[in-house]
Amino acid sequence: MIQLKNINKIYDDGFQALKDISLTFEEGKINVLIGPSGCGKTTTMKLLNRLTEHTDGEILIDEKNIKDMNPIELRRQMGYVIQSIGLFPHMTIYDNVAAVPKLLKWDKQKINQKVDELLNMVDLDPKTYKKRYPSELSGGQQQRIGVIRALAAEPSTILMDEPFSALDPISREQLQDELVHLQKSINKTIIFVTHDMDEAIKIADQIILMKDGEVVQQGSPNDILLNPVNDFVKEFIGSERLEQAQGLPSLRSIVDTTYPRAVCTDPVSDTIELMKQHQTDCLPVVDEKENYIGSVNLYHALSNQQKTAKEIIDDSIYSYDETTKTEEVLHDSRLVIPVTSNKRFLGMVDQEKLLRSLHENFENKRGGQ
Ligand SMILES: Nc1ncnc2c1ncn2[C@@H]1O[C@H](COP(=O)(O)OP(=O)(O)OP(=O)(O)O)[C@@H](O)[C@H]1O
Ligand SMILES: [Mg+2]
Repeated sequence: MIQLKNINKIYDDGFQALKDISLTFEEGKINVLIGPSGCGKTTTMKLLNRLTEHTDGEILIDEKNIKDMNPIELRRQMGYVIQSIGLFPHMTIYDNVAAVPKLLKWDKQKINQKVDELLNMVDLDPKTYKKRYPSELSGGQQQRIGVIRALAAEPSTILMDEPFSALDPISREQLQDELVHLQKSINKTIIFVTHDMDEAIKIADQIILMKDGEVVQQGSPNDILLNPVNDFVKEFIGSERLEQAQGLPSLRSIVDTTYPRAVCTDPVSDTIELMKQHQTDCLPVVDEKENYIGSVNLYHALSNQQKTAKEIIDDSIYSYDETTKTEEVLHDSRLVIPVTSNKRFLGMVDQEKLLRSLHENFENKRGGQ
């Protein structure tokens, strides 16, 4: 387990890149750091393997302070895939992948085996690719090599700084799938940086959302999608993803369009009859153009049987525009009446459907994924 406790990072020129960061990277999980450019993601990664030193606070790996560890040793425990792929251009793919094992003086046969195993793992035939140079590979293939090079020395932790950012969407999705699959078999602690929320949601066990050197929210993709802590998080997730995740159906889709209505010129006695038929104590009233104008309630109607619906109308039960978010009508315990933008009556929200979708949503929230 890797813990950051009250970490501040002030660069030599006085710029404070990290402000009192406290967080835990979960062991054997994919932890994704995400946030706008300049928020401190790469800085956080570099602190972990001491490519740069934190100003104050503590970083603990399995309870051990990294300041008490030898930086070279520390880096050997951590594979690092840097923001630009960073393969050594003058070395073959074999030598690139074998670089750290060679440094560690593994025997030749073990290195050979490892390189083959890793190349096979990312679907690159060792016979074909071992002897090539990075420039003889496509961008996606180079990024795969970047990833397996970080795995070669069997580190316990892998830092990946936007490893797939230069890829086209299809290769990118492929590599994301491969990473998730790989993670299941190697079970390493992965710390992965991205700008891309879709990528984060797809691969993360834990998302850490940063802004201006601070952690804004930390949690599972579900936590963050269902309970964004503030507007910044909401904006970062995007309204479309939020709606999808929060999953309450639109008002329009839960309207009962067959719900009875009274026309304003109807005698009150007719509206009483309608209420009896439908076992309700309240009826929406429309004008001649089918525009919603208010409602009548049974109690009021019974003492005004000689009048017309229009004369006893209660206009305190207002309507909702059909585009209103379903969440926003939940507090309204009365009739929920969606109308079009020009006030045309659409029907009544079906309370049973609404309840059912609320239950489903609640179950989803409770049950994770
Ligand atoms: N050596 C340095 N000296 C001074 N400031 C630095 C240094 N390195 C980074 N910074 C600043 O620290 C802030 C965080 O940089 P960092 O590289 O961690 O951002 P990032 O979140 O990785 O951004 P990106 O998504 O663009 O890669 C930035 O404002 C950057 O300009
Ligand atoms: Mg960066």
